[in-house]
Amino acid sequence: MAQFLLGIDVSTTATKALLIDEQGSVIAVASTEYPYETPHPMWSEQDAALFWNGTVQSIRGVIEKSRVDPKDIAAVGLTGQMHGLTLLDAHGETLRPCILWNDQRTQKQCDEITARVGAQRVLELTGNPVLTGFTAPKILWVRENEPDIYRRVAHILLPKDYARYKLTGEFLSDVSDSSGTSLFDVGKRAWSDEMLRALDVPREWLPQVTESPVVSAKISPDASRATGLIEGTPVVGGGGDQAAGAVGTGIVRAGIISATLGTSGVVFAQSDVYRVEPQGRLHAFCHAVPGKWHLMGVMLSAAGSFRWYRDALGAHEKEIAKQTAQDAYDLLTREAATVSAGCEGLLFLPYLTGERTPYPDPNARGSFIGLTVRHTKAHLTRAVLEGVSYGLRDSLELMRALGITTTQVRASGGGARSALWRQILADVFDAEIATVNITEGAAYGAALLAGVGAGIYRDVESACDTAIKITSHTSPSKDKNVYAAYYPRYRALYPALKSEFEALAQVVEQQRGASNRGNP
Ligand code: XUL
Repeated sequence: MAQFLLGIDVSTTATKALLIDEQGSVIAVASTEYPYETPHPMWSEQDAALFWNGTVQSIRGVIEKSRVDPKDIAAVGLTGQMHGLTLLDAHGETLRPCILWNDQRTQKQCDEITARVGAQRVLELTGNPVLTGFTAPKILWVRENEPDIYRRVAHILLPKDYARYKLTGEFLSDVSDSSGTSLFDVGKRAWSDEMLRALDVPREWLPQVTESPVVSAKISPDASRATGLIEGTPVVGGGGDQAAGAVGTGIVRAGIISATLGTSGVVFAQSDVYRVEPQGRLHAFCHAVPGKWHLMGVMLSAAGSFRWYRDALGAHEKEIAKQTAQDAYDLLTREAATVSAGCEGLLFLPYLTGERTPYPDPNARGSFIGLTVRHTKAHLTRAVLEGVSYGLRDSLELMRALGITTTQVRASGGGARSALWRQILADVFDAEIATVNITEGAAYGAALLAGVGAGIYRDVESACDTAIKITSHTSPSKDKNVYAAYYPRYRALYPALKSEFEALAQVVEQQRGASNRGNP
């Protein structure tokens, strides 16, 4: 009898349910989109009811589309946006909207935690500095700003774990998602009593934590009625979206790393041992592979830089694309391929929305440097692709310095569709770039984790071997020597400009204040 696996991704924009068969073929996908709120500048919130409604609708949708008998669904795996704070009272009711991963209100609480515990000790205990997006500073923010709500807190859950609570009635999480809370001892794969004590957060508010492919709960009778799944269907721990996404592209062995060219850019490496970047410049989290860890660098504007460029300077290409049923990105990259590597000394800094890795600096700004009268639009386009690639290499270099080896880089995300960009990455990284057959992201990884829990695959590695195949290889060309000469010049630019970026931000702020006063 055929068996199927269900992956559910509770993301910031939608909940997606994906059904695969035992060989890993995608049978059906259903998504339910929803908005998020920005009640104040820099805030980002979402009603947790959306996570549950999205889960119910998407599961119903995927069952209907696939016509699979729910009895044949062997297990469910959950993944989702990381770091979000969902607060529940003693009856399991939500107390306020979930505060999301991209919310920036908590700098004061981050500073407080760092001062109370000590920057070095925080790094030793949790593998990372306390960042505004992480969960712990949000708990302190609620304590300080919404004491009436705080008094009623009985449970703290991450977004996917709220969906799990509604599906199973259990308060549970997994090691990879818990790693992004600043309350988790990433080396020991358990809650950090020292952090909890220091922040005065009761241990009993936090869920039990398991490894990602382990069955930890079962679909409840209520959830069975709501979703159509069979009561008692096993649910595995699952993982944060980055760890589950990495499982979904096979980043589960030493030497194979991923570079994702989405709006943001992520370099992700699995590590057999627990390693922490001495200055905390890389995220160090538990992987969704039992007993393994991962390191991650996040660039804020990767393919987002190219989208900005197309929208700001590609009106002509957009028009031609419309008339000729082509893609404006293809037209731009075709032209960029006609100029030589290194763009005759033109460099682009991709810090259009500030930066996270390796420079956590909201004031960093995008720049073209080295323009001459010889430069054409083709050079500008190519410089954007090269600048983003240099920025990703910054994360890779931090990993290499920690002893991570690179035998293959798997590229994914919209930008990886460009053959030119893949070649530039291969040359800038001096590594082979591969693409794989799976483009379904974290939900797919969650389904594979479910397959391990159900006993269909022996372990996460063999699940990936069964399902994930290489579809293209790009080897470094002689241009790698050109990039080897330019990369140090790129790397020197941010340190040279840092104080000017800060001064520039102050002037912009003063001018904004002046114009607001002028226009009450
Ligand atoms: C990971 C991170 C994002 C969010 C939202 O650290 O911030 O991947 O999980 O997708």
